[in-house]
Amino acid sequence: MNIFLTGATGYIGGSLVSRLVGDGHTVRALHRDGDRKDAVAGMGAEPVLGDLDDRDILAGEAHRADAVINAADSDHAGAVESLLDALAGTGKPLIHTSGSSIVGDASNGEYSPTVYGEDVADPGSGWEPAADKAARVAIDRTVLAGADRGVRSVVLCNSLIYGHGLGIKTDSVQLPRLVRQARASGVTRHVGPGRNVWSNVHLEDMCELYVRALGQAPAGSFYFVENGEESYRAMSEAISDALGLGEPQPWSVEDAVAEWGYEVAVYALGSNSRVRAHRARTELGWAPKHASVTDWIRNEVSAEG
Ligand SMILES: NC(=O)c1ccc[n+]([C@@H]2O[C@H](COP(=O)([O-])OP(=O)(O)OC[C@H]3O[C@@H](n4cnc5c(N)ncnc54)[C@H](OP(=O)(O)O)[C@@H]3O)[C@@H](O)[C@H]2O)c1
Repeated sequence: MNIFLTGATGYIGGSLVSRLVGDGHTVRALHRDGDRKDAVAGMGAEPVLGDLDDRDILAGEAHRADAVINAADSDHAGAVESLLDALAGTGKPLIHTSGSSIVGDASNGEYSPTVYGEDVADPGSGWEPAADKAARVAIDRTVLAGADRGVRSVVLCNSLIYGHGLGIKTDSVQLPRLVRQARASGVTRHVGPGRNVWSNVHLEDMCELYVRALGQAPAGSFYFVENGEESYRAMSEAISDALGLGEPQPWSVEDAVAEWGYEVAVYALGSNSRVRAHRARTELGWAPKHASVTDWIRNEVSAEG
């Protein structure tokens, strides 16, 4: 299959390039930094220089591809509109990457019992996101509505992804930030009491789900991507064990924002995001292999980095 992919130099996109090329697909991969052309080619992809704002480039690549994967930016509405316009009436797949902070509750590290299923995305579900997440959800809904325009459009809504990146960028968004802060300061920190819980998934299992969605997901379908959940307190304890540090310590949300910025501190690290990937398992036969983020941290994170 000829696949056009955005985000080739990123954690998710680079890992997908590696998996898809390994599976024998031809991948034309968008990168916005000309200096990284050789690195993209080194992954076995055909480099395409351009930005998500380059409507003509996205349209041209979508026209020549059999399928498109948007793995660059869950919050870039213009790219989604360009790709949908180009693919309208073709029946080709558009796999869009979203993130489960859409259900995040900004709890400052406190626990929430609320668990979300994929029906949140169904028309008429009545669910609405927090104001901070409305724009991302609007993009997801635009993608899903692509089904009415003759696009086999799919949203994969990833939870916390762990695992070493398989492409150029090896670090994900959430755990590496906690680890870097702990290594630099000698104290592992979580937001508030760290009782907040995030669903999570290993990168290789995530890649497998993208492949399955590419092959068989129906038009207009939304999937959460998770294989377990854990509290930030438990993940922080695993980080302390891996780095040989003492008891993790709570951080006020103000201190966390100063270190990581608002979005990361309040949503990526300070909220609950508890979701269930029911559809991926039942509709696509997805059977993830990795089950424990804390085992992974203890086995794969080291003091040296
Ligand atoms: N990692 C996770 O756990 C996770 C979970 C759920 C959702 N997400 C979401 O999924 C998306 C991708 O995540 P990631 O972890 O792979 O992020 P990442 O490592 O930062 O990668 C982002 C990629 O997109 C490219 N990109 C960004 N803006 C672009 C633009 N305007 N034009 C062209 N390329 C652009 C980046 O290029 P450069 O290298 O040039 O910057 C990079 O290749 C993000 O929106 C993230 O919020 C991530």
